[in-house]
Amino acid sequence: MANVNFDQLEREVCAAIQGASTEAELEEIRVRYLGKKGNITGLLKQIGSVALDERRVFGEKVNQLKNTVETFLAEKKSQVSPSTLKDFHFDPTLPGIAPNVGSLHPITQTIREISNIFVGLGFEVVDGREIETEFYNFTALNIPKEHPSRDAFDTFYTAKGALLRSQTSTVQVREMEKRKPPLRIIAPGRVYRPDAVDASHSFMFHQIEGLMVDGHTTFSDLKGVLHIFLRKLFGKDLQMRFRPHFFPFTEPSVEIDIRWGNRWLEVLGAGQVNPSVFKQAGYNPKNVQGFAFGVGVERIAMLRHGINDIRLFFENHVKFLEQFQ
Ligand code: PHE
Repeated sequence: MANVNFDQLEREVCAAIQGASTEAELEEIRVRYLGKKGNITGLLKQIGSVALDERRVFGEKVNQLKNTVETFLAEKKSQVSPSTLKDFHFDPTLPGIAPNVGSLHPITQTIREISNIFVGLGFEVVDGREIETEFYNFTALNIPKEHPSRDAFDTFYTAKGALLRSQTSTVQVREMEKRKPPLRIIAPGRVYRPDAVDASHSFMFHQIEGLMVDGHTTFSDLKGVLHIFLRKLFGKDLQMRFRPHFFPFTEPSVEIDIRWGNRWLEVLGAGQVNPSVFKQAGYNPKNVQGFAFGVGVERIAMLRHGINDIRLFFENHVKFLEQFQ
């Protein structure tokens, strides 16, 4: 049959393919056998000139061989390294590719900075809960049901009558119930109010509550501690003013403004703990006195970093967050 040893040819090609270790070598083999001038291509061309009685068998054998070689080539190709790697030289002296490393969120950073200042003044950091009862968010804080000042702390309620705390002041009575005076605590955390979201409002934001109670802590102590706090945070030349205000849970109450450019900006609410709050916590108001304060974390972070839109803190764009690494 036209003098071709198909079995031997198949063994020869397959051995060559088996021995190849790169894509380029396989391509060489393909050209040698299946290219325009390849051996197998040559046999395909011969089919027409083979004697009539042998042509069908010859044709079948050539085509079979061609299919076998193609399949084998494809199979091997998937196992060898791509030819581009052949030109790849590893240079260990080149600088590496630095992985993206995350960092603390600017709000977390601000909470830690503020907490550190108070820890330095002998305060202890405690945790509160975000889902609260009306008792700790309002009643214990001298804001009875139907009291108009509840509107100031507009609140999300759950179907079962619990609520998302609208202020960190909830920790005041919770902590006083747990321990005896003297106490100096701060409690950072999230609070929630159903406000429409805009550049300065969010339905969720952070506050840090502070509470200092013992037998003799006065309004002067309140002023002294908050002076130290704000000057540590904003520099020793900071101007501040204490403005009379009303909170149901402190008496007297103040709002504290800092001088910012040519404006006064409110940064803190504070006051001497109202005796009725001590009573709710089981303390005898005749024996204890002290002060409480609440500071908005986003407001502080925005002032310190020159950020003009509170939404930036919660959208989590990497380009924004990267600036606080
Ligand atoms: N809870 C008050 C608020 O959210 C702030 C405050 C805390 C005021 C403690 C006085 C004492 O506005």
